[in-house]
Amino acid sequence: MKIFEVAGPAGINMEFSYTDDIAANNDVMQARDTLENGTGPGSEMRGWLSLPDDITESLFNEIEEAAQAIRQAQALVVVGIGGSYLGARAVIDALRPPFARDDEFPIFFAGHHLDADYHVGLLDHLGDKRYAVNVISKSGTTTEPGLAFRVLLNDLTQRYEPGDLKQLVFATTDGNKGTLLSLSRKLGLTTFVVPDDVGGRFSVLSPVGLLPIAAAGFNVREIVAGAAAMAQGIRRKGSGISDNPALAYAAYRLSCYRADRKIEVLAGYSPRLSSIAAWWKQLFGESEGKDGKGIFPASVDLTSDLHSMGQWLQDGERTVFETIVDVVHSSEMTIPAPAHGDDGLTYLNGAQLHQVNRTVLQAAQEAHIAGNVPCLRLEIPKIDERTVGALLYLFEYACGVSAYALGVNPFDQPGVEAYKANMKRML
Ligand code: PA5
Repeated sequence: MKIFEVAGPAGINMEFSYTDDIAANNDVMQARDTLENGTGPGSEMRGWLSLPDDITESLFNEIEEAAQAIRQAQALVVVGIGGSYLGARAVIDALRPPFARDDEFPIFFAGHHLDADYHVGLLDHLGDKRYAVNVISKSGTTTEPGLAFRVLLNDLTQRYEPGDLKQLVFATTDGNKGTLLSLSRKLGLTTFVVPDDVGGRFSVLSPVGLLPIAAAGFNVREIVAGAAAMAQGIRRKGSGISDNPALAYAAYRLSCYRADRKIEVLAGYSPRLSSIAAWWKQLFGESEGKDGKGIFPASVDLTSDLHSMGQWLQDGERTVFETIVDVVHSSEMTIPAPAHGDDGLTYLNGAQLHQVNRTVLQAAQEAHIAGNVPCLRLEIPKIDERTVGALLYLFEYACGVSAYALGVNPFDQPGVEAYKANMKRML
């Protein structure tokens, strides 16, 4: 075992112990070539690779203009499921301060499940607010967002003139076909295109993710710039396992999988990372879990889950490996002296709360390694537009490489299609 330290673009670094697994390393290098050269199954869906460089100034302007129009309303409801909403939610939840201030533009999500209580509650909550809707569906025929959109569009139609609807409803869908596109054209809505060669779970850096993120008030140019910096670093020819974090991560995963570690747990030490973990689970789960293969992606929110799942990680079945996201800088908070005498924690007086959090991370990592859980620590300098953009791209690239190294097509989802077909028949 030796300690690998891999420095990456945008200050994103990795550290993990690794037995140089030559077979895994070779398979990952070959998988990288398969991805880059377009020689694998699903190669026509690799448009996401160049999304950060492909976005034109005019597309940025259109997104920002639409976002401004949306912000004239009193709230936005983003309607979509899976890859059509998880990326936007991941970025917005990461970048928004934990307690939304009164001046923050409210963003709600709908159509990501069929729970009646939730959707009745949402309509109630929106009340007579003048809200905007961004409906996102590549196929334009998905049941969950389709029904939620119908309900919201009916509500707005009852309350506003057709001219107003054009100011309030924005659609992101296929550029050439689909029910949603036809309806949008009929109503004269502003529409954004999901590129043909980009699948849902790889679409966060297209208008699918960028419009809601811009409407939430974030700088989408910075997010894309972070992703572009990461792309430039990890796609460079001649880089390998020792100096490319995406390839190192893919090799580590493959090596763990082949050693019967079939569950990967993404561990974040900030609630701001929870939705990134949800997005990451979809990305890896839907891309790799097929043909009887695939690492099961799970996640924990620490330190909270140290008091629940921590037991399992430390001591449960040894089928798991851990990927820890370590944020170097967070808000300053000096722990004050106790106002009422010794509370048993006086040794922490004057310490920075974030440093205590990082020390617990280190302590848990050491304990888990001692408990025979392979751990990779992914260090990001702080949570901001650039680092989040870079992190998402790093995971996407590692996912494409990992899936090819496993021998599956990263870009299809036959299992999801099977449930969709059953559901349509039964309904
Ligand atoms: O990543 C994927 O391809 C899926 O999760 C889709 O995004 C999801 O099924 C929603 O599909 P659509 O955008 O066609 O409504």
